[in-house]
Amino acid sequence: MTRDLVSISDLRDDDVVALLDRADRFSADVRGHTGRRPGALLATLFLEPSTRTRLSFEAAMLRLGGRVVTSADAKSSSSSKGETLADTVRMVDGYADVIVLRHPSAGAARLAADLAVRPVVNGGDGGREHPTQTLVDLFTLRRRFGRLEGLFVVLWGDLRFGRTTHSLAEALLRFGARVLLLSEPGLEFPSGVLDHLRHGGAETADVEVSGPPTFGALPLRGVLLGRALGRPTALNFDQERPNAIYVTRVQAERLPGGVGAARRLPTVDRRFLAEAAFAETAILHPLPRVGEIAPEIDADPRALYFVQAAAGVPVRMALLDAVLDDVGTWGGPPDVVATTDRSRCERQGCISGAEAAPPLSSRQGARCGYCGESFARNPHVAD
Ligand code: NCD
Repeated sequence: MTRDLVSISDLRDDDVVALLDRADRFSADVRGHTGRRPGALLATLFLEPSTRTRLSFEAAMLRLGGRVVTSADAKSSSSSKGETLADTVRMVDGYADVIVLRHPSAGAARLAADLAVRPVVNGGDGGREHPTQTLVDLFTLRRRFGRLEGLFVVLWGDLRFGRTTHSLAEALLRFGARVLLLSEPGLEFPSGVLDHLRHGGAETADVEVSGPPTFGALPLRGVLLGRALGRPTALNFDQERPNAIYVTRVQAERLPGGVGAARRLPTVDRRFLAEAAFAETAILHPLPRVGEIAPEIDADPRALYFVQAAAGVPVRMALLDAVLDDVGTWGGPPDVVATTDRSRCERQGCISGAEAAPPLSSRQGARCGYCGESFARNPHVAD
């Protein structure tokens, strides 16, 4: 068994804290660790576009004194000739000591991790998860606020196809934060992820959200997540000021037909940040931004997104360093079990439809172990 990181659920809370602490140590002197992993070889297998994730992983390995081989896009890899992911992964597994995979299908990292002997790290699998971005986000929030416990964080934008928020919501809840989901119309948080969070003990409440006039077309409906929430039906930003707003772009490339979605959430600009409700609110974004945040606020001390991007290097140094320790799995077992053929998912966007993947389901019941969505809602599976 190796230390794969497919989902944020693979890490126990103490694994996360240990990684963030290790990242703190690296960030104190990112240039001072080139003697740490001499000869270690990272393969970055990116079958979907990336700037930050790939470059920060590669920078992290080089900063640890290791080396990197890369396949930076699907066009330059044999997947454009029709090679299956399974074959590509088996081969790269023979070349490198650790693989970071980005792929357009949900569950691709699960499949790769199950096939590879070497550790596989999920650098983003379709609209499903992005656990290493979550480590970067937690690191940034912990640095700014000195804690995660008790924070009130708004996750904002495309919550359906934006994979970063799926992993981040789980982690924030586990560390005792309250989360408000505010999505663009039609881009609500996936029900499979909500079920998973509820299973982990989170309560959810539909709330009517109101706030200052620059907040746009109010009131909006949102979903509040947390523990011991009571039964709230409304939330006013003037009374409950967010510690952070985590903005995401509409993932146009994943929308059916590639069409843009209507936006109702306001652009985060100087006027928006002038509201008393947001006087102390940190603004995060996994980037790239495409108009959700005006560049005029970039120099504002509340704008953390470039600080957040820079944290990618020490956080990924910590992760690679831990993965290369080769001391077995993380604290918890992966949330999947082998299942019968009848439960095959084959939903569009799920790797199990694109490849002959062995059927897997979630330990928590009738959800696909690759894409996380309910088997019951799968039109291809008889009830
Ligand atoms: C995100 C991603 O790829 O999911 N980017 C990143 O890794 N920092 C967010 C996005 O593409 O919108």
